[in-house]
Amino acid sequence: MAFSRFFGRGRDAPPAQPPVDEPAESGDEQESEPDVTDVDDASPEAASQRSWRERAEAVLPTGASTGSKRAVALWGDDADADLPTHLLSARGCRVVDVQGTSYVDCTMGLGSVALGYGEPRVTRAVVEAVTEGHLGALSSWREVELAERLHTLIPCAERVQFLKTGAEATSAAVRIARTYTGRERVISCGYFGWHDWSSDAAGVPAAVRSATQRVPFDEVAALERAVAEAGSDLAAVVLEPVVERAPSEDWLRRARELCDASGAALVFDEIKTGFRVAPGGYQEVCGITPDLATFGKALANGYPLATVVGRAALMDAARETWISSTLASESTALAAALAVLDWHEEADVCATLAETGRELRAAFERAIAASGIGGVTIDGIDPMFLLRWDDAVREARFLAECARAGAIVKRGAYNFAAVAHDEDAIQEIEAATSSALVALADWERSR
Ligand SMILES: Cc1ncc(COP(=O)(O)O)c(C=O)c1O
Repeated sequence: MAFSRFFGRGRDAPPAQPPVDEPAESGDEQESEPDVTDVDDASPEAASQRSWRERAEAVLPTGASTGSKRAVALWGDDADADLPTHLLSARGCRVVDVQGTSYVDCTMGLGSVALGYGEPRVTRAVVEAVTEGHLGALSSWREVELAERLHTLIPCAERVQFLKTGAEATSAAVRIARTYTGRERVISCGYFGWHDWSSDAAGVPAAVRSATQRVPFDEVAALERAVAEAGSDLAAVVLEPVVERAPSEDWLRRARELCDASGAALVFDEIKTGFRVAPGGYQEVCGITPDLATFGKALANGYPLATVVGRAALMDAARETWISSTLASESTALAAALAVLDWHEEADVCATLAETGRELRAAFERAIAASGIGGVTIDGIDPMFLLRWDDAVREARFLAECARAGAIVKRGAYNFAAVAHDEDAIQEIEAATSSALVALADWERSR
């Protein structure tokens, strides 16, 4: 396999060298560089002429397989060409782009990395799993061990099933609730990924859309109305328990009562809150136990793992339907999650995330106050908070200047605290933010 096929091309190719032990290519296998003289400039074949961003946009229909990592999602419309889009490496809370430029990262893999990138203990566990052979004819022992440990940590987790993504796990929760209740309608509040049951996007059949009704966050009366309308066909109420702020206790308590009264399943999507606000998720914090819950993201510190957990009576309905994925029990992600659980056993990781988030947030607040810039506020909870701008152009300008000053800040969504955000990193973020706000003020004065 020729690594030069990947690393040797592109106008902004990374500084990485092919491994020294790369076997010499046989003449037969060797591929010559494509002749780009007679190909369309925008086609993948013209890759050697273009930046990674241009290449991505030519070959990936949306520009990036993770929607939030598209150039436009990172930087807004008309993102300048110097802004980073492609990763070379990541360590702690720092990422290096393909140009070799290092940034302090406030996005932390969209909240999937709560310890830090390449956290050594997690990496060792993954390497051990790889070395053993991470996949075979049989289920990994780690699947059983991790399920047992989650059972002791998560209030509702009498049973556990693993999947790979948050969307899969939450779709599985809905399938289980429908199977258990024999009903179809779902009430939801939050973001649950891209799958049909929760999406209004193009391509979702109208019949599927109409089976899910969205309700606003933390509005008891709206929830009561929706439950009454769904009547005896209500299978599940699926809630993200935290959406930019903690909910009133009343909302979740009422959701529990309404589900109990109607025979529907109460589902908490803890993909963001699990192993972040508490190991057992927001249900551990609020004391209201759902029937089913989903976890992902911080569970495996960035390795692909998600889980649906819940009361045995409901989860056992998984036997009557079909929820399965070829790689759900491969062991690298399971090993990563076991190492994450070791961390939580030995240290109060979630208290650290709250404290670090508080400090990060305070750093942004100080920079904003010192700059005198208006039109931006900070929402969210300490371990996951967001900057809300009154104007998309000002926001884009700010984010671009942050990046030029060495920090990647999330556009329009959460920044996530990580254990790896140490004092130096927080200072660098404050300095970058301050300098970006000064640049924004200068730009606004000059307009
Ligand atoms: C609350 C919540 N649920 C589900 C998902 C979907 O997870 P994934 O992107 O891993 O499919 C996300 C992703 O951000 C999420 O925040």
